[in-house]
Amino acid sequence: MLQMTDVCKVFRTELVETHALKNLSLTVNEGEFVTITGPSGCGKTTFLNIAGLLETMTSGEYLLDGVDVSQLSDYQRAKLRNQKIGFIFQSFNLMPDLNLFDNIDVPLRYRGMKASERKQRIDRALESVGLLARKKHLPAQLSGGQQQRVAIARALVGDPLFLLADEPTGNLDSNTAKGVMELLQEINQAGTTIIMVTHDQELANQSPRNIHILDGSISDAGAALRNQPTSAVDAVA
Ligand SMILES: Nc1ncnc2c1ncn2[C@@H]1O[C@H](COP(=O)(O)OP(=O)(O)O)[C@@H](O)[C@H]1O
Ligand SMILES: [Mg+2]
Repeated sequence: MLQMTDVCKVFRTELVETHALKNLSLTVNEGEFVTITGPSGCGKTTFLNIAGLLETMTSGEYLLDGVDVSQLSDYQRAKLRNQKIGFIFQSFNLMPDLNLFDNIDVPLRYRGMKASERKQRIDRALESVGLLARKKHLPAQLSGGQQQRVAIARALVGDPLFLLADEPTGNLDSNTAKGVMELLQEINQAGTTIIMVTHDQELANQSPRNIHILDGSISDAGAALRNQPTSAVDAVA
């Protein structure tokens, strides 16, 4: 479970102070597929980076799988991130000089895993995204959709509890985006909890839970309305 309570994030530069998150509270349970939407600059990436332990919060409480992350050292945070979190980005963020196999190996090497186990896991991850035959290819030899699949394999190879995705289909055409969404749905059905930020309301509507962030806070009024029994909505109408 991922549980945030009154999380605030302030970015300070010499000239301005930006309150990117304002008392954001959210609980995501194991097995959920949550999509996050909201206008540009509302705090979606900030939220996801804090959730994924890439960034620290200014104040508030964040429990990740029961662990109070505000109490952790940098080393402990990095270790927890490596074990519990898979992250995918809009721009794939693959290492251009490494072939697919070696790209996916990066998080496993960090864990100090044996070579034989790493190979087994990497092959399985590549197979699950349909790219095993290409393991010696470089990222530049692949299409955007294929590169995102490699990034998904890299995020999943360590069996994370949470897969966090920041506009994963933002650089893809709509057909390829649909394919990536279907892959994420399969991954969710196999047990991984997913939180996905997206601009695409049509994709967002395909998840059971869509949360809207507005001005650094969650505005869930729409969700509450949707969750009312149809008869109640009819009665109001
Ligand atoms: N590293 C940073 N330094 C200063 N301001 C930042 C930084 N990152 C984000 N911001 C500001 O925080 C707000 C939220 O940004 P962000 O989370 O990237 O929004 P979104 O992903 O919804 O477009 C914006 O006003 C943005 O300019
Ligand atoms: Mg963003």
